[in-house]
This record gives sequence, C-alpha cells and structure tokens, in this order.
Amino acid sequence: MQLIIDSANLDEIRELVDYYPIDGVTTNPSIIVKEKKNFLQLLEEIREVIGCNRELFVQTLADHAEEIVKEAKYIRENILDKLVIKVPVTKEGIKAIKALSEAGVRTMATTIYTPLQGYIAAKAGAAYITPYVNRIEKLEGNAVNVVKEIVQILEKHHFNSKVLAASFKNVQQVHDVCLVGAHGVTIPPDILRLCFSHRATEANVKVFMEDWQKEYGEKSIVDTNKIKI
Ligand code: E4P
Repeated sequence: MQLIIDSANLDEIRELVDYYPIDGVTTNPSIIVKEKKNFLQLLEEIREVIGCNRELFVQTLADHAEEIVKEAKYIRENILDKLVIKVPVTKEGIKAIKALSEAGVRTMATTIYTPLQGYIAAKAGAAYITPYVNRIEKLEGNAVNVVKEIVQILEKHHFNSKVLAASFKNVQQVHDVCLVGAHGVTIPPDILRLCFSHRATEANVKVFMEDWQKEYGEKSIVDTNKIKI
C-alpha cells in the first residue's frame, strides 16, 4: 500500500522522506502556489529531495484535452524519472487521460467524487484513481463507501489501476480508507505525523529510558556494555 506526501514544501518533504517509508510526493496547483516559487524549479528541487525512485505527481491546469496533453508533454520534458501526470476527471480530462495512456504516459485521474467517475477513468487508462475523501464528506457524501466501491469495481473487472485516496483532514479518514482496500493514500504532512504518533508510545519510551538509567546510569546500550558489573 503506497504512502505519499501531499505537499510541495521542501522542508516538510525532506524531513518526512528521511524518517518515514515514503513512496512519493503529490502536488496540485493549489499546493504549488503556496510555496511562492518558480514552478519548474520547485519540482526539480522536490525531485532532488526525493531521488529518482519515488514517484512525483504533477497536475495539469488546462481545460481542453489538447492543451492538457501539451502541458503533460512540457512537464515530462523538464521533470525526469518517475513522473505521474495528474488530470482532473472532466470530460476533456478523460479525453486527455485516454490520449496520454495510449502514448504510454502514466496518469492519475484526480478530483474523483463517485465510483463511476473512477470506472470511466480506469477504462481510459489512468494508472491511479484518486477519490477526494474530505471533499466528498464536506458534501455529505459517504467517502469511505466511494473508495470501497471503486476498489471493488477495479478488482471485480480486473483493471490494473490503483486507488490512491486523497484529501484527508483527519487520521480517522486515513484509517477508514486503509480498511476498505485503498491501494495507497496521499496525506498532508501534519496528518501523516499524527498517523504515526501516540502519547502512550512516547510515555512508554520515556519509562524504558528512566528504568535503564536508574540501574546503569547510561543512556545507550552501547555505552552500558562498557560497564563491568
Ligand atoms: C492530492 O492528490 C489532492 O490534490 C489533495 O489531496 C487535495 O486535498 P485537499 O482536499 O485538502 O485540497
């Protein structure tokens, strides 16, 4: 199951890639503009931080299929290695996904709200299908069900596309989509940190250290080994 960072902030990406088992980075136009940097330069810097083996997801902006394909080509000429072109699933977007897939370009069908949007995008050849969990919930939809049904459609009909769920605002949403079979999640840094931390774990570790120090007066097993008892 893939774990992707939903951010274009270099400091956040650097820290998370260093500490956690991260498979890639997703961006979209709103995420990119927050960094107030040159678009291509920022993408190049992200690539440098994540290396050539992690996927970098970059979204197109145009609203006509031919323009979307042109933008995808431009991004691909400038950003190397494992690149996925994100395309929103409008009518023009689906046409572009179809053309890009036929040309062998890996795409992510994004801004997905319904299982049938997921089906059409998979049929058009998208490598990733991306339902927007929190945005579906804000519209009072059952986001977990949408994710579950897309997974079912893909598996039942033997599509190769993977469900990479996105748009998370709390840990419970991430937990829920993991349980219904999402093949991956793309999570903003603050939520990602919360997924891995628990007060009790921190407290337990503190007690282990205190017990050890009380007995041996050392903070490391290596140093303790030098003491003869
Ligand atoms: C990632 O692919 C999406 O662009 C992102 O998760 C959207 O998140 P938001 O709903 O918090 O903007």
